[in-house]
Amino acid sequence: ESIEKGGYEHFMLKEIFEQPRSILDSMRGRMIAENNHLMMGGIREYENKFANAQRILIVACGTSWHAGLVAEYLIEDLARIPVEVEYASEFRYRNPIVNENDIVIAISQSGETADTLAAIELAKSKGATIFGICNVVGSSIARATDAGAYTHAGPEIGVASTKAFTAQVTVLTLIAMMIGSKRGTIETTKLHELIAELEQIPAKVEQTLKLDKQIEEIAAIYKDATNFLYLGRGYNFPVALEGALKLKEISYIHAEGYPAAEMKHGPIALIDEQMPVVVIATKDSSYEKIVSNVQEVKARKGKVIAIVTEGDTTIPSMADHVIEIPETSEHLMPLLSVVPLQLLSYHIAVMRGCNVDQPRNLAKSVTVE
Ligand code: G6P
Repeated sequence: ESIEKGGYEHFMLKEIFEQPRSILDSMRGRMIAENNHLMMGGIREYENKFANAQRILIVACGTSWHAGLVAEYLIEDLARIPVEVEYASEFRYRNPIVNENDIVIAISQSGETADTLAAIELAKSKGATIFGICNVVGSSIARATDAGAYTHAGPEIGVASTKAFTAQVTVLTLIAMMIGSKRGTIETTKLHELIAELEQIPAKVEQTLKLDKQIEEIAAIYKDATNFLYLGRGYNFPVALEGALKLKEISYIHAEGYPAAEMKHGPIALIDEQMPVVVIATKDSSYEKIVSNVQEVKARKGKVIAIVTEGDTTIPSMADHVIEIPETSEHLMPLLSVVPLQLLSYHIAVMRGCNVDQPRNLAKSVTVE
C-alpha cells in the first residue's frame, strides 16, 4: 500500500497533488479548435443534440452534484441553455417533468451510485437523452447512458473526492464551451481566451499546490474549531459547498457552505470571535460584493481565512489569513480555488487524528439508497 501511495502519507494527499496531471488528462485531445469553433473530441456526433437541447438537467450526488452546480453557471453563461441541477435522490421520487428535447447529464465518479442510476432510468423512460460523465470505465452508469465522456482522473481511492471533482469540472467546462461555440453564444475572442486559459490551468494548479505548507500552518490554528462557515459567490459558490463538505467528511467538524449574500439571512447569527469563515474572494464580477461580505464578518469579529487572487490588496487588509492563488478567468476559477480548501480539510483532519482516507460512516460509492 505504501508503494501505491507514491510516497504520500495518504491517498487523499496523493490525489490532491495529482490534479495538474488529472486535469490535463481530462482535457487532452478533446479541445479541437477549427474555424473558430471548439469541437469536443470523442463526442462530436452529440454536438447538434446539445446545441438544440431545450433544457439540460444534471443529476448527481455529493461532490459530483457540486461539479454539476459549477456546470449550471458555465452552461447558462456560455451556452445560454437553461440548466437545472438535481440531487438524484430527490429527482427520482418527485415525478419530475422531463421531455424528449431535454438532455440529462449524469455525473458520477464511481458510476455506481444507486440514486443516480435510478434517476437515469427514470429520465430515460420519459424519452430524454442521457449523457454520462463517469470516472470508472465500464461502470453501471457509463453503461446505462446513451453517450458520455469519461473523466481521466485515474483511480480515486480516498473516500473524499478531490481529483475526480476537478476532472468533472474540466470536462463540463469543455462541454459548455463546445455548446456555446456551436450556438454562437460565445464571442470568438472570448472562446480563444478561454481555450488559452484552460491550457494554463494544470500549471496554475501546480503553483497553487505550493501553498501546502502555508495552509498547514493555518490548519494548525483552527484544528480545534467546532464550526466553520464557507462563503463564495458566483462560480465560487459551489466551491464553498465543496470546501465545507470536504471538512465535514474527513475532520468531523460541522461546516456549512453558503452563497455569501445569503449569510445575512441566517448564518450571520452564528458569527463571533470563535467562528472561522473561509471566504473565496477571488477577483471576478462579484468581487466588490464579496468585499462587503468580508467586512460584515469582520464587524462581528469572525476569523476570516480568505482565498484571493494574487496581488489583491483590499481583502488582505481585512482578513486574518490570506491564501493567494493565481489569476484566471472566473469561468475556470473553481479548478484553482477548490485546491486550497482540499488541503485545508486534509491537514485539519490529520491533526485531529482522523482516518483521512476512510472516514467513519462514509463509503466511496453508495450502491444502496
Ligand atoms: C459518496 C462519496 C462521495 C461522492 C458521492 C457520489 O458519498 O463518498 O465522495 O461524491 O458518493 O459518488 P459518485 O461516485 O456518484 O460521484
